[in-house]
Amino acid sequence: MSDALIAVKPEIAAKARIDAAKYRAMYEQAEKDPDGFWRGEMNRIAWMKAPTKIKNVDFHGDVSIKWFEDGVLNASVSCLDRHLATRGDQVAIIWEGDDPKSDAKVTYRQLHAQVCRLTNGLRELGVKKGDRVCIYLPMIVEAAVAMLACARIGAIHSIVFGGFSPDSLASRIQDSECSVLITADQGRRGGRTVPLKTNADEALKQCPSIRHVVVAKNTGGDVPMQAGRDIWWSDLCDRQKDTAEPEPMGAEDPLFILYTSGSTGKPKGVLHTTGGYMVWASFTHENVFDYRDGEIYWCTADVGWVTGHTYIVYGPLANGATTLMFEGVPNYPSVSRFWEVIDKHQVNIFYTAPTAIRALMREGEAPVKKTSRKSLRILGSVGEPINPEAWLWYYRNVGDERCPIVDTWWQTETGGILISPLPGAIAQKPGSATLPLPGVKPALVDGEGKIIEGAAEGNLVLLDSWPGQMRTIYGDHARFGQTYFSTFKGMYFTGDGARRDADGYYWITGRVDDVINVSGHRMGTAEIESALVAHPKVAEAAVVGMPHDLKGQGIYCYVTLKSGEEPTEALRKELVAWVRKEIGPIAAPDAIQWAPGLPKTRSGKIMRRILRKIAANETDGLGDTSTLADPTVVQDLIENRVG
Ligand code: WTA
Repeated sequence: MSDALIAVKPEIAAKARIDAAKYRAMYEQAEKDPDGFWRGEMNRIAWMKAPTKIKNVDFHGDVSIKWFEDGVLNASVSCLDRHLATRGDQVAIIWEGDDPKSDAKVTYRQLHAQVCRLTNGLRELGVKKGDRVCIYLPMIVEAAVAMLACARIGAIHSIVFGGFSPDSLASRIQDSECSVLITADQGRRGGRTVPLKTNADEALKQCPSIRHVVVAKNTGGDVPMQAGRDIWWSDLCDRQKDTAEPEPMGAEDPLFILYTSGSTGKPKGVLHTTGGYMVWASFTHENVFDYRDGEIYWCTADVGWVTGHTYIVYGPLANGATTLMFEGVPNYPSVSRFWEVIDKHQVNIFYTAPTAIRALMREGEAPVKKTSRKSLRILGSVGEPINPEAWLWYYRNVGDERCPIVDTWWQTETGGILISPLPGAIAQKPGSATLPLPGVKPALVDGEGKIIEGAAEGNLVLLDSWPGQMRTIYGDHARFGQTYFSTFKGMYFTGDGARRDADGYYWITGRVDDVINVSGHRMGTAEIESALVAHPKVAEAAVVGMPHDLKGQGIYCYVTLKSGEEPTEALRKELVAWVRKEIGPIAAPDAIQWAPGLPKTRSGKIMRRILRKIAANETDGLGDTSTLADPTVVQDLIENRVG
């Protein structure tokens, strides 16, 4: 790993909100006096009743996390209403379509009106505070409108990424018993259409809780509408008033649920509440990106992931920013698309994922260099570790060595960024997320939970709470404690491993649990395994991550067939298609190895450590295999490794 230090640029530091001295002072104050520090920050969002209690957290026992608990607010007011007087005619969202010829601009006033119309429409459909509303939309302005309308009603939105299958959509709707689904006829990506309404219809066969489906017309594709259940967005909203009362919400009332994969079982409904999440979204968006009034900010994530929630919608809009929403993909119609969009809309801050950088890096410098990118000031990275080579390519070619890169480490569970350089305060090292933000107390622990000091490698934990932390797993608080606070008592366990160098900088090394990160998409190996064993010809399956040049990690599956089944190429293809259908295209296996047997301990536990090593072609260091029930299976697996 490269430890080269890239100093803070004087011209950035001179104007930055936070320089090195201020960062240290803020960090110290937040640590010594969290109540005082966050009382000072809480008015960055709009309160109907300001909180008097600030922090009330216990990581032990049943685990209770509360911030600003007696405050009352509505998230949509912070994102919309309070901007009307000062920036009503400023563009809130620049929408850039998949087709470079299609774009749109929506001002704060227009966005407010659209949100109010949908709020009234949803209220007419009977949606009220506390109800769950599922959103299955492409990257169109309606996605932001739908989120904010739910927030205005106090309904809890649960967004499901448009790339998930009908089954994945159905299980998420069932888990939180959503009463309304908001979707579109079709999505568009890279010149192709995504059959959202058709997928939704398939999913809804298993979802009796859904009473209404609101369908946005996007492509105009022909889709069936079920009378009494389905209604076009425009039919519902056009006749509504463009004002709507925001529901007063307690700071600890839920804002949204977002399903994410863990090591075991089905995806968990990560629950975020209103006050703390909004303060964290605003605080981190403003300070990490050093956001200034009037700047154009672009995060390339999808609203189906947490990055889209916090850094396309809630953070930027709370800060009165102009946020760009992109429907397309980095390589359509050409591999210059990102850079062309930056020039077209004069983007100042650009936030993307390492997987996109690595893919574009393969295309060489020419597609970047033919664009200007002069408007850029700050670059960001999120979702997976960025290798120093990709970091340097991004820094030199995209930012012309002018723009600091903020490598932001965080998770769905953390609500927002926790570890990241601040552009005017913290010198960067390519590949390191560097130092914690004020209010964040990371530590490294060994396997027994003992804190390791100094330069070391270990499990990354957080010793104390920050306002944006998730509060529970929807409907299963016991699982929340079990998943995050029981491995190391009294600490939040991230599931990540990290190294800390002599400067105290953190280098995230990746997941230490059975979660894999494929192109920045988080997946549980257990989910893919259960999809595989659901196939009638599969007896057993074990899935691990393998190193992958573009995706970071690829999906490597060991499959044992039922006796009598032939391991053919046709069956291999069938299984890949099967997993795509069961979970979604993002879960398509990269490699399938036929395994006559899997390495198991005598008690029947699969030794994944060995499977990971074989998949990575690191078969020299397999370690002790003598405890296996049948050590000979290992030799067979090594000999028949694929790829
Ligand atoms: C990984 C995405 C290294 C990490 C915001 C984490 C990262 C998981 C980084 C969360 C980064 C995210 N450097 N690893 N800058 N950012 N990760 O929930 O393993 O989709 O635990 O949230 O992504 O993924 P999630």
